[in-house]
Amino acid sequence: MKRTTTEIPNYGNWVNIKFIYIPGLIGLTFLILAFFVPILAILAGLFLLLAAYFAYARHLFAPQGKNVQGKIWAKLLDHLDWDGNGKILDIGCGSAALAIALAKKYPQASVTGIDDWGKGWEYSHSICERNARIEGVEPQVTFQKASASRIPFPDDSFDLVVSNLVFHEVAGTIDKRELLREALRVVKKGGTFTFQDLFLIEPMFGKMDALLEVVRSWGISRVEFIETRNEPFIPTALKLPFMAGTIGILVGVK
Ligand SMILES: C[S@@+](CC[C@H](N)C(=O)[O-])C[C@H]1O[C@@H](n2cnc3c(N)ncnc32)[C@H](O)[C@@H]1O
Repeated sequence: MKRTTTEIPNYGNWVNIKFIYIPGLIGLTFLILAFFVPILAILAGLFLLLAAYFAYARHLFAPQGKNVQGKIWAKLLDHLDWDGNGKILDIGCGSAALAIALAKKYPQASVTGIDDWGKGWEYSHSICERNARIEGVEPQVTFQKASASRIPFPDDSFDLVVSNLVFHEVAGTIDKRELLREALRVVKKGGTFTFQDLFLIEPMFGKMDALLEVVRSWGISRVEFIETRNEPFIPTALKLPFMAGTIGILVGVK
């Protein structure tokens, strides 16, 4: 379906504006204090550098900047192997960018997006609904507040389950494999999953070989890991481990 209004969707940015102005304000405060205690100029420099890094990262991710966000969504969509009929779940849907792209790609499918829409993000339930209306896919998508650690659907509910850069963000679950298991619980037997995340952060997910073994031990019939961290569209400045330097895709069939 085509857009029905001239309004512009707001897909937000993975780098919250707070990451720029909080270190920026602290840096400026130290700078003023450095007139009286010169050593504080070092702290001022560090905080201002941090603010400048996040401002640059925000520009790189932004659709109006280098659109790395859009390219990361596209990478996940490229790795979907699905016939387009049935129910999709997007875990941690954020601003609904992926849920909407899926609704457009698969017009026969129904899409559910869940997210806990915490304060750390520029996203909300109402932003998702507004974006879906503007993009003309409102009848196809629904959104619900829920946590990735306790997905409010029975086992084997969805034909396709996706999630993009969410598991590493879930506070309160140290072993992120538990989140993978919860996500896979709601995939139908024979259904498909595609998760993109910072899977190469070992303290969160363990070593990749071990992770794949564990996933198979849960009765998943096919799973493979596709490393995307070295894709040419990921600029050097975003290759830090907690930005996009450890990113990859887990794809498979239950
Ligand atoms: C980097 S953003 C990614 C958003 C979206 N998947 C995308 O690709 O634009 C991380 C998302 O994880 C969500 N999130 C964090 N903790 C969560 C939880 N416990 N349950 C559900 N979503 C969560 C945040 O609200 C945020 O929308």
